[in-house]
Amino acid sequence: EKGGYDHFMLKEIYEQPNVIKDTYRGRLLANEGIIKMAGIEDNLEKFLNADRILIVACGTSWHAGLVAEYIIEEFTRIPVEVEYASEFRYRNPIINKNDIVIAISQSGETADTLAAIKLAKENGAFVFGVCNVVGSSISRETHAGAYTHAGPEIGVASTKAFTTQITVLTMIALRLAKAKGTLSNSDFHRHLQELEIIPEKVQEALEMTNEVAKTIAAKFKDSQNCLYLGRGYNFPVALEGALKLKEISYIHAEGYPAAEMKHGPIALIDEQMPVVVIAPKQGHYDKVVSNIQEIKSRSGKIIAIVTKGDTQVRDLADYVIEIPDTSDALSPLLTTIPLQLLSYHIAVMRDCNVDQPRNLAKSVTVE
Ligand code: F6R
Repeated sequence: EKGGYDHFMLKEIYEQPNVIKDTYRGRLLANEGIIKMAGIEDNLEKFLNADRILIVACGTSWHAGLVAEYIIEEFTRIPVEVEYASEFRYRNPIINKNDIVIAISQSGETADTLAAIKLAKENGAFVFGVCNVVGSSISRETHAGAYTHAGPEIGVASTKAFTTQITVLTMIALRLAKAKGTLSNSDFHRHLQELEIIPEKVQEALEMTNEVAKTIAAKFKDSQNCLYLGRGYNFPVALEGALKLKEISYIHAEGYPAAEMKHGPIALIDEQMPVVVIAPKQGHYDKVVSNIQEIKSRSGKIIAIVTKGDTQVRDLADYVIEIPDTSDALSPLLTTIPLQLLSYHIAVMRDCNVDQPRNLAKSVTVE
């Protein structure tokens, strides 16, 4: 049932090219310039009239929400806020009739997310679900939704659910951008084409990064701490990379927006501290390079995720992991891959129970 893989997590990491394709199949017609998702089409007016989108979720799904915040705001100019469902529900949040709440959940059973949905509905908001498990409580409790088609995710650490959530949310952003006219025609088409070929690039990323992730894992498996840094679209990926490492290898890790480093975490950096820096060519590359220089001058060990062919970071970093080139907005779908593999290999080398880490449950149905 693990399809020849040692663990479900690894199988699910390798399923990503296919499940991303499953998720956009029939919805993304790149050549025709069409995105169609029933849950959006049926409620298009509501989305177009929304003053604001509130995203509620927990854990990895919350990280997908943060990526979506950047994408939706950039493409549609609709203001987006992302909240932990557990915070949202207990703080008398401001919810207006013209707000749309998007709840993201792999399992569709997370207690805090479900409670946040109920609260939003009581306050008159339209609630849209992005779930993986068909017929789950959250998919039934929401007014409308779009499923991710990731298939069953057995490993407790979420992998393919994350990348398919980003895929769905990117399609939503593109559909709304088309209706609102907030992207130029050429940008809209460029994003569609790029999304269509992303499964092949994810495949390429798996092939390019697995061995080097294993080599790096062997070097750092006994670390006590690890820092993950990224900017823009890749700031949430830094959070997700750190969460994956914590969950399955029990190494303390923190994710930060790279520029925040100098406001505190830089004090932690010495020759014992591995720092994973997400530095693709698109995005705030020069800024990230100067962050890398700051780490280097304090003797931190730099593991950099870079675009294929990068030479500048290669000269500075202790280790580089190359990934294929893509647009800034879609880069999280590729930068995530080596971070998943790095955590996986470190956990295996530490003899951890990768698929069922201690103290964790696949769906958190109690608050
Ligand atoms: C991370 C992880 C958890 C879940 C969180 C939300 O790998 O598994 O952080 O992401 O419990 O779960 P769902 O998405 O099912 O609501």
